[in-house]
Amino acid sequence: MTERFTVLVMAAGRGTRMRSSMPKVLHPICGKPMVRWVIDAARAAGAAEVVCVTRPGDGVAEGLPEGVTVAEQREGEGTGAAALAARQATGTTGAVVVLSGDHPLISVELIAELIATHREHGAAGTILTTEELDPAGYGRIVRGAGGAVDRIVETKYTEGLSQVELAIREVNLGTYVFEAGALWEALDAVGEEHGERYLTGVFPLLRGSGKQVVSHLTRDISSAIGVNDRVGLMDAERLAQRRLLEHHARGGVSFLAPESVRVEADVQIGQDTAVGPGVTLRGATRVGEGCTLGPAATITDSTLGGHVTVTHSFLVQAVVEDRVSLGPFAYLRPGAHIGEAARIGTFVEVKNSEIGAGAKVPHLSYLGDTDVGEGANVAAGNITANYDGFAKHRTTIGKGAKTGVNASYVAPVTVGEGAYIAAGSVITKDVPDGALGISRPDQKNVEGYAERAERKRG
Ligand code: UD1
Ligand code: MG
Repeated sequence: MTERFTVLVMAAGRGTRMRSSMPKVLHPICGKPMVRWVIDAARAAGAAEVVCVTRPGDGVAEGLPEGVTVAEQREGEGTGAAALAARQATGTTGAVVVLSGDHPLISVELIAELIATHREHGAAGTILTTEELDPAGYGRIVRGAGGAVDRIVETKYTEGLSQVELAIREVNLGTYVFEAGALWEALDAVGEEHGERYLTGVFPLLRGSGKQVVSHLTRDISSAIGVNDRVGLMDAERLAQRRLLEHHARGGVSFLAPESVRVEADVQIGQDTAVGPGVTLRGATRVGEGCTLGPAATITDSTLGGHVTVTHSFLVQAVVEDRVSLGPFAYLRPGAHIGEAARIGTFVEVKNSEIGAGAKVPHLSYLGDTDVGEGANVAAGNITANYDGFAKHRTTIGKGAKTGVNASYVAPVTVGEGAYIAAGSVITKDVPDGALGISRPDQKNVEGYAERAERKRG
C-alpha cells in the first residue's frame, strides 16, 4: 500500500452490556486493552495517522500509545457522533479507515483487503461484512435489486423490523473505508434514531448523491469478531490466544499443551524454547532461546536469558541470566537478579537480591535484600532477617562462601569471601574472609539419661 490513509478508531461507546465500571474498550484481551489491539493493527497496516475517539474523563485517552491523536466526543451519542468528533483531527481529504474499538482482532490483512476493494471500485464508502457470525444485534446489510448495498438496518431494537430484514445473515462489522470529504458531507445530513446518530446512516445518502458504496465480505471470523458483552470477550480471548500461540510457534517455540497455556500479547519468546503445561507468561516478560518452562510456572514482567529451566515456580519482576535452573517451587520477587548458571531450588524465596553466577540456593531459604557472591553455596533453611521492624538492611554472603543448614543472618551483616558458616548459627556480626562463623550453644551430652528416665517411670 503506497497511498496514505488515516485511521479513525471509535472508542467512546458506553458499552453498557459489559456490566462494568470500566469502559468496554479498556477490557483486556490476552493482557492488552481492546483499543490497543485495534491501534496496533492500524499502525501495522501502515496508517499515516491514528485518531482515537474517547469520552472526556473515561480514562481511555490516558492508556493510548504515544503518537495517537485523541479526539473527544463531547456531545451526542452513537457511532455517527463519534466519527464527527474526529472530523477536525482527520481532515477532509484522502481515505479514512474507520475501525471500532470493540472489534479488537481486526487483522492487518483484512484492513489491507478492505482498502484494496475501496480503491478498485473508486468507492466513496466501503463496508466490511461477514456471514459467519451470529447476526443477532448486528446491523444487517440490505441489498437493492441489482445486488448493491442499499442500507444497513440496525437490529439492537427489533420492533418494526420485517422478517425479511431479520433473516439477513450478512452483517456490518463496523469497519469501513471512506473518502473523507464525502463522509463528512453525508454525516452532517444524518438525523438521530433512538437518541443516537448512526454512522451507518451515511450509506443511503452517499448512494443518493450518486456515489459508490461497496462491500467487502470476509470469512475470517477470528478477525471479524465483535465484543458487546463478557461472553463475546471470552470468545475474543480464546481466538486471540490461539493467534498469539501460532505466532510464537511460527517463530520456533514449542507448546506441549497449548490449551493449558496463557501467553499475554506483549510477551517475547526465543527460538527453541519449550513451554509445558500450565505456564502463564504475563506483561512485559521476555524469554530467551532454548528455555524449558513448566510444567506450571507463572512469570510476570520478568526477563529470562537463554537455556533457563523453570519448573513449578512463580516470578514477578525478576531478571534471570543464562542457564539458570529455578524450582520446583521457587518464588522470585521484584528485584531478584539471578546470575548465570546459578540454581534456585525448592521452596526458596528471593527478593531484591543479587545471586552471583554459579551460586546455589537449593532448598527452603528466604533471601531478601541480599548479595550472594559467585559460586557461593547457601545450604538448606538459610534465612535473612532483613527487616528490624523499621527499615530493610542488606546481607552479603561473599564469593565461594559455604553456609551450613538452618543459619540466619541479622542484617546488616557480611559473610566474607570463602567463609564458612556453621549449621544453626545466628549471624549478627561480620565474618572475615576465609573464617568460620559459628554462634550456637555448645552441645552437652547427658550420659546414661535414657536408662535413668525409664527406671523413674518403671
Ligand atoms: C455498530 C453498528 C452495527 C454493526 C456493529 C458491529 C452503528 C449504528 N451500528 O453497532 O451496524 O453491526 O457496530 O459491531 O454504527 N462508539 C463511540 N461513541 C458512541 C457510540 C459508540 O465511540 O457514542 C464506539 C464504541 O466504543 C464501539 C463502536 O463505536 O467501539 C461501536 O459502538 P457500539 O455501540 O458497540 O455499536 P453497535 O451497537 O455494536
Ligand atoms: Mg458493538
